[in-house]
Parts: sequence; structure tokens; C-alpha cells
Amino acid sequence: MRPTQAPTIRLSDYQEPAFWVDTVKLSFDLDPTATRVTSKITFRANDTRTDGPHDLKLDGRNLKLITASINGNAIPADSILQDAEGLTIPSDLVPQDGFTWVAEVEINPSANTALEGLYMSNGMYCTQCEAQGFRKITFYPDRPDVMATFDVEIKGDAPVLLSNGNKLAHGMWHDPWPKPAYLFALVAGDLKSYDDTFTTASGRHVDLQIFVRDGDQDKCAYAMDALKRSMKWDEQVYGREYDLDLFMIVAVDDFNMGAMENKGLNIFNSKYVLASPETATDVDFERIEGIIAHEYFHNWTGNRITCRDWFQLCLKEGLTVFRDQTFTGDMRSHGVKRIDDVLQLRGRQFREDAGPLAHPVRPEEYIEINNFYTATVYEKGAEVIGMLKLLVGDENYRKALDLYFDRHDGQACTIEHWIAVFEDATGRDLAQFKRWYSQAGTPTLSVREEFANGRYTLHLSQSTPPTPGQPDKLPLVIPVRVGLLAGDGSEAAPEQLLELTQSEQSFDLGAFDEKPVPSILRGFSAPVILKHDVDNATRAFLFAHDSDPFNKWEAGSAYASDMLVKMALNDGAIDAAYLDAIHAVALDDALDPAFRAFAVGLPSEEEITSAIVALGEKPDPDAIYTARNALSLAMAEKMADDLPNLYTAMQVDGPYSPDAEAAGKRALASTALGLLTKLDGGKTAAKQFDNADNMTLQISALAALIRAGAGETQSAAFYDQWKSDNIVLDKWFAIQASCATPDAGLDIVQKLATHPDFNWKNPNRFRSLIGPFAMNPAAFHRIDGKGYQFLADWLIKLDAINPQTTARMAGLFETWKRYDKKRQTLITGQLRRIADTKNLSKDTSEIVGKILG
Ligand code: ARG
Ligand code: ZN
Repeated sequence: MRPTQAPTIRLSDYQEPAFWVDTVKLSFDLDPTATRVTSKITFRANDTRTDGPHDLKLDGRNLKLITASINGNAIPADSILQDAEGLTIPSDLVPQDGFTWVAEVEINPSANTALEGLYMSNGMYCTQCEAQGFRKITFYPDRPDVMATFDVEIKGDAPVLLSNGNKLAHGMWHDPWPKPAYLFALVAGDLKSYDDTFTTASGRHVDLQIFVRDGDQDKCAYAMDALKRSMKWDEQVYGREYDLDLFMIVAVDDFNMGAMENKGLNIFNSKYVLASPETATDVDFERIEGIIAHEYFHNWTGNRITCRDWFQLCLKEGLTVFRDQTFTGDMRSHGVKRIDDVLQLRGRQFREDAGPLAHPVRPEEYIEINNFYTATVYEKGAEVIGMLKLLVGDENYRKALDLYFDRHDGQACTIEHWIAVFEDATGRDLAQFKRWYSQAGTPTLSVREEFANGRYTLHLSQSTPPTPGQPDKLPLVIPVRVGLLAGDGSEAAPEQLLELTQSEQSFDLGAFDEKPVPSILRGFSAPVILKHDVDNATRAFLFAHDSDPFNKWEAGSAYASDMLVKMALNDGAIDAAYLDAIHAVALDDALDPAFRAFAVGLPSEEEITSAIVALGEKPDPDAIYTARNALSLAMAEKMADDLPNLYTAMQVDGPYSPDAEAAGKRALASTALGLLTKLDGGKTAAKQFDNADNMTLQISALAALIRAGAGETQSAAFYDQWKSDNIVLDKWFAIQASCATPDAGLDIVQKLATHPDFNWKNPNRFRSLIGPFAMNPAAFHRIDGKGYQFLADWLIKLDAINPQTTARMAGLFETWKRYDKKRQTLITGQLRRIADTKNLSKDTSEIVGKILG
């Protein structure tokens, strides 16, 4: 029914280009609707391609070709074969040993609503070229293995004209580092800068600039500080220095993703740069720190060493996520950061891996590469690096990374190169380990204990379920950190690292007088689902005594999950021992408040849902919502006498600071407030809202009230206060959609969707309403199917202007198979309606097609 199917691109088809590029000179004559771009590109023969003569094939989309020449000879229009994807010049017009190509094209940035290539946002020009946006700027071999130096000249009346590299003069830029086109960037507009400097370890002076709209300069200090800490950290931990005279960040309001690591000119979604105590929460500050670090770290892992092709995306993304996670852990707390990361991993990546969109960390085929900027490539990709580091040890990891930078600087690489540096640096054979890159699906790790004749043995087995296109799976190398606890809670033996490489393997852990209690998979040492039959008494014991913060938290969480699953399936009650355990941890002043906040927070509805699915049952979203509410009410009642004191003890005096310690206290205070609100009719929350002098306190009070079905006055006041600040207003939309009670949810979001401030063409605003609603299970999965229809309507509408964001949001439907027949039919009905939409983008069509299976 659909017009010609877009082609599938395969890793196995990779071929080097016929021509390399040495230098690129670009000249821009900016105009909102008719920008002229002149390119002068020097091509060189690729001597390894002996299958010539070669046509010149250049990528190009939505470009109006004005003129083109080779070595100064104009190419007659009838010799140029142009289609929607690019152009071809026949080989007889192409000097095979190399040549200079000059072309002029015209583009229309104002009409570019897909936000890919050169587009306008709030009157400023900006670009997004990863993965394949450069071809919307000019004709080019738009592939990451083609690396060239760029000179850029920008003509336009904007006071600020930026591009990559070092600044030669106003609007004139030279980037000495060869780079692929996806790292190109241009920004032009009436921007103000917030400036600082950094001196590298070897003494290079670097100017740092964050460009924002006038008036936002006072919201840049935190991002700048995070940048300087990132630069220092990369020197100290990885021995990597910055390599240009200038490092710039630009904040942009219309952006499809978080941020982009363009060489020397990072472009950010403004919500990941701008922060003040009044407008940003503790979580926002931490996110900003992490994303600033992530993009900066790409300068070495991504830019200096890039990817040969887009199948290798995890080479830069998995590694860079691993690096930013470690950085955040170093800045804050590794234990708490690990819990946070695993919650994200399970909530997004395990969900993806268990459904129709499952794919390997290194995919082998795609239709639209933008659909593969996924939790699997990023987060599971980072887990794979973490396992590798654990297996080879810290020192060997650093040795391997030094070798990687040494050997591959300036190159476009593959996972094979990456694995080889570890093999060469350590002498270890990683052939089996490499399966983590090619096998999709979350492995299950099953554990059986044996204590016989005074010896304690762990029997481990693994299996990975079939995923689309991969029916059979081979055993992986799974690093399992194991601690053993004695009856008094002390460590009965030093922690061990077991390496499970077979389907089944037994590990004799030594002689003991009494059976120890195992703490398995400490620090979540591998991204697996642990199956171990433990009773709740053992969980309570580990929750009280485990010295590993992750497993301590995990024990409490598994306990709660077990109880909530049974309650939701109608055959469970609240266990008094759980309430005792949680009460004790909540009040244990020896524990970090940030940790306690996680420990007291119950598993999300999404987590309970997947636990129910793992038992082979159908989840009932209302029953899950009800069970979770009942348990938190019981917790509130159990702790009733202590909650006011805990809440008071966690108040932070003095001016707001986003540091980890203060943020941890506020997190625990906010958890306490949520429970208190169930008891005091919202009195404390209303007071907190009125007195709040920072966004963390203001929004947590509002959330507590909305969850309790109240907060109308506060919500109106919040809107009045913040209606002219888009980043804060996004929070106002989001909190109403995510905290809405199941019955009211749809009405609320339908009404919000007609609000004059619901500017749906802005990706942040669209996501802030539609995303949280679809992630609010009881509201979204209404049995009348109207939640599904609401999402589908909006996806169809957005696809016509912004395929990338639409396709990403279409993934919200990926879990349909978990539900009962009635809901399945309703969801697939909506998916088919989307699939049948006229002119549906290939982005959305690929995702919806895969979800339908
Ligand atoms: N490389 C960017 C980052 O992770 C993200 C680019 C996303 N691009 C896309 N087409 N989705 O830092
Ligand atoms: Zn990245």
C-alpha cells in the first residue's frame, strides 16, 4: 500500500568510498528562505578501490543546484543525474586521480521543520548534521569515514557568526582537525556570550564561550563550571587535553535531541545548558553536568577518533556514556549514580530489548539511522564498556585506552579496532566477549546455591531469549561480582569476580562453618536479569547489611516489587516486615540521604509491569496503580510519627547550592513530603510551595499535591509565575501529565493540548506533554483505548513536519504485546492507522512497521 519501500542499509555491504576528501571550503550567504552555499572540495583517489573507473556520487537532499564544476570546467546540466537522494556525475567527466569540485546550491532554512541540516530557531540559524544532515546543506560524500579539514566563511548581518575550529576573523573559521561532515556546525544570530578560560595541562590557553539569547547570560554559570571540571577530569583520568584555541557551546530552543558534539562548537538543547536555582531542579543540574561532560568527552571519543560507518555508533556513544557516568560518579557518589543508571537502563533499555525494537549494540541493518540513537546503543553500549573494564582491571583498561588513542587518532574506526586494542594491551582473547555487540536481548542469569560438607557452591546458568531476526543465542561472558555475608551481616569472605562463560557453570567459593548469604551481581556488574529464589527474610537481611550500595538498594527494591506484584495480581498483602525494614533505612542517619531517597522510593509502575510480565501474567495498569498507592499509604502510616522530623531534618539552610549533599537531602525531604501528603491533606506541601525559593522545592511540592488529586491553586500560580520561561513551562506541562490520576489523565492532557502555550512544533514542548502521558501507565492504558488514540493523533500530526521526533515517540507503543487481547487490538489498530498515513516518513514507518512485527 505504501509507496516504494525505503532501502535497508547493511553493515555487510560496507565499502570504502571511491574518493577521499582532503579539504572543504564552504561559503555561506545567509538568508532565511534562500541561503546560498558554495562548496569547494578537493577529492583524492582511494587507491584501494581498483574497480574503477568511478562515477562521482554525492549525497544531497532538498538542495537546489545552481552551478557545479570540476577542475574549473562547468558541468553541463544534462550530464548531472540528480534524484531525491543526491547526484551522480558519470566517470568520463571525473578525473580518476583526484580533482576539485565546486558547487553552488540554494537552501531554505525557514522551511526546515525537521530540524536537521540548516534551520532557524527563534530567528537564529543553526545546524544539526549528525547523522546525515550535512547532505541538506550541500552535495557531499556524507559518511563518517570521509574526513577533511574545513574552512568556513559566513556572510550575514547577524552579530555572531560561528563555525568549527579556530576563529580567523568575524565569520571566518578554520578547523585544522580532519573531521567527518556530521561534526560540521554553523550558528548565526543575535547571541550573547558568557565567557571564561581554561589552561590545559600542557599550558594551552583555551577561550570558553557559552552563547545564549540576551537575558540568559545569568543562567550559564553552572554549565561553564561543569565544562571546566570535565576538561580537567579528561586530563586527569584519561590523559586527554583539548586541542583548539576555543571551545564554544550554543543553547538552542528547537532541537530534536539533547546536544551535539560538533568540533569546537557544541550545540545544546537550551534545557541542558540554562540553569538557575529558581528555574532548574537538582535533577536538572545533574543532567546538565552530565551532558556537558558527555559532549566535551566526545572531542576525543567521537571526534579525534570517529566511526567508520553508522553501524559503529556505539564505538563513540557507548564509550562516551560510560565516560560521563564515571565522571558524574566521581563528582558525586558512585553508589547512588549506579542505582540511578540501572533504573534508567531497566526502564528504557531492558524494555527495548524485550520488545519488537530489540537490536544489538552494534546493529547490522537499518532503514533510517536516526532510529538507532537508542538506549541499546547508548546505555547498553556503556554497560559493555563497564564489563570490559571490570574484566581486564583498571590498569589494563587505561593501557588499552592509551593504545586506542595512540593507534587510531585521526581515524574512522570499528568495534573490531576497539576490541583489538584491548586484546593487544592485555593479551586476552575477547572473541566471546565480542558477542555482547552482536547479540540482542537481555540475558537471564539464574543462580542456585549449594552448601554441602562445609563447602559453598554457586551454580550459575545463562540464557538469552530470541529477538527479532535472532532466534538462537550463544553464551556470553558475564562478569559476576559476588560477596558473601555471615549471619551477623559482616563479610564472610573477600568479594570475588566470577566469569561465567558457559551456559552452565559451577563455582566453588570455599569452606564455611555456616551457609553464607550471597550478594550476587554487586554494582550490577552485568546488564542481565538475575533469577535467584530468595525469600523476603533474606532480602530484608541484605537490605539491612549489604556493604555494596547497589545490592543493598536492590534487595529492598526486589522486596517491594515482589509484594507489589502479588498485590496487583490480587493475592498479596502488605508485609509488616517490609515496613519495618524501610522505616529503619529511612531513619538511618549513617546512610547518605540520596541513597535513602532511592531506598524509600517504590518501584515504578513500569517496573512492576515488567515484573508481572516476567511471570507470564498480563498486567492490569489500574491494579498496579492501586497496589502502589496502597503500599505507599501503608509506609506513610507506619512512619507517621517520624515523617515530620525526617522532613525537617532534611531541610537545607542557607542559599541554594546544587551540590550532591544538599541535593541528596532535598531528595529525601521530597520523598518524605510525598508520604506526608498522604496524611496531612497537603498542608506541608502547600506550605513548601508557598515558601520555596528554588525550583526543586517548588516543583516537588506541586507534584505531591497533583498526585494527591489537589494542587489546582498552586498549578495556576505556577503558570502565572513562569509563563514566559519556556524551559520551566515545559515542566508545568510535564508534571500535570505524569502525576495525573488515572481517571483524570486523558481529560487533563486533552485540555493542555489546546492550551495556547502548547506550541507542538517545538520538540521540547511536544515531548513534555505527550511523553509523560504515555509513560503514566494507568492513564495511558485506559481500557476504552482513548489514550492510544490521543498518542496516535499527535504522532500523525507531528510526522508531517518532524519525522525524527515522531519516530522516537512512536516507540512508546513498543510494549503492546504485554497487554490483554482487548488492549492489544486497540493499540495495533492505532499503529495501523499511523502506518497507513499518506506520506508517512521512513523514520516513523520503520519504527511502526517493526512494532507491528
Ligand atoms: N551525538 C549526539 C550525542 O549523543 C546525539 C546525536 C543524535 N542524533 C540523532 N540523529 N538522533 O551526544
Ligand atoms: Zn553522544
